[in-house]
Amino acid sequence: MRARVLSGMRPTGALHLGHYHGALKNWVRLQHEYDSFFFVADWHALTTHYADREVIERNVYDMVIDWIAAGLDPDLCTLFIQSRLPEHAELFTLLAMGTPTAWLERVPTHKDQIEHLTDRDLATYGFLGYPLLQAADILIYKAAYVPVGEDQDSHVELTREVARRFNHLYGRSPRFEADVAAALAKLPPGQQELLERQRREFGQDGNADALGNGEALIRQNAGRHGFTAEDGEVLLGHLKGTGRAVLHEPQALHTEVTRLPGLDGQKMSKSYGNAIEMREEPAQVEAKIRRMPTDPQRVRRSDAGDPARCTVWQFHKVYSDAATQQWASTGCTTAGIGCLDCKQPVIDAILREQQPWRDRAERYLANPKQVHWIVEMGTERARTVARQTMKDVRDVMGLAY
Ligand code: TRP
Ligand code: SF4
Repeated sequence: MRARVLSGMRPTGALHLGHYHGALKNWVRLQHEYDSFFFVADWHALTTHYADREVIERNVYDMVIDWIAAGLDPDLCTLFIQSRLPEHAELFTLLAMGTPTAWLERVPTHKDQIEHLTDRDLATYGFLGYPLLQAADILIYKAAYVPVGEDQDSHVELTREVARRFNHLYGRSPRFEADVAAALAKLPPGQQELLERQRREFGQDGNADALGNGEALIRQNAGRHGFTAEDGEVLLGHLKGTGRAVLHEPQALHTEVTRLPGLDGQKMSKSYGNAIEMREEPAQVEAKIRRMPTDPQRVRRSDAGDPARCTVWQFHKVYSDAATQQWASTGCTTAGIGCLDCKQPVIDAILREQQPWRDRAERYLANPKQVHWIVEMGTERARTVARQTMKDVRDVMGLAY
């Protein structure tokens, strides 16, 4: 069975090239290697945009179209919408009971955002809960990896702490010993003794190899006939001496990402007015790049420039091959080319990159039912997993009456 990755995006505006190079391109690659779940985090969007509902409404399906246009293949990955799965809210509520508010207040993004988004009142209960809702999103699918930018690391770390606390509080149900015995009995001959030995060596001597070997042994049995995922969790908890690991601690996945700045050199963002949308009209793209500021010290065509002072150069680094980069940098420092000459290969490359997106999106824009259907399928697939987790969670919390 392939490990699961899960990630989400907030539908607060049309996706732009920064989203593509910073995240989406990576998702497209991951879908081939992992059991991939990607979702529209519409509730998360509401934590900041609770007063502009039409923004979110307009962008939900548009964002899914952007995803598919970029190459996410609904046959390879599971695409869904957070708010269609009330199970996320249920887990969020249950986790909220035992999560200290101090854990949420000290998440760095919390203070940062309140300071930066001064035009919004973010002293809300929902906004404080943002990272805990994210923890629920991740834990409900028992995701192994969460592909996110480094700015989200603290949220994944909180998710791990929340899972640990949950397993500690509820993993040792009265049934646990019986579950362990039943799961041990399902191991092939000889493995039961082996696992018990590894458990002793880890528990008494803290032998990390024994832990690793025990985990490997449990993993080997995963998917074997009659040995359920629950059996695996029970034995894992038994091995570690923690009780059943109902919720799994995920890891952030930092794969190589390309940072594409906005047209003015700041972070690309729709709200800064420095973005190029993924499916922006070619004429617009061309006009925007042509207007883009260059090295401020290169005032006249005859002045030599320095690419290090120019955002167009950052675009060359993402979009141009070595020969074109060489041409641009030499032309700039010798005043051999003008800035509009320099920009042309970038314009061409962006338009070339966008063409397949526009083509793919067109089919779905003409047939919105098909997009709805894709999301419907994904939502049902996600629901099967989310329901099972909630059943386990209610069970160990003593809510199964
Ligand atoms: N907070 C993420 C962002 O701003 C979006 C998100 C919500 C998310 N839930 C998630 C990402 C779960 C990964 C996993 O980009
Ligand atoms: Fe920037 Fe190119 Fe102009 Fe140099 S020639 S300042 S790199 S746009």
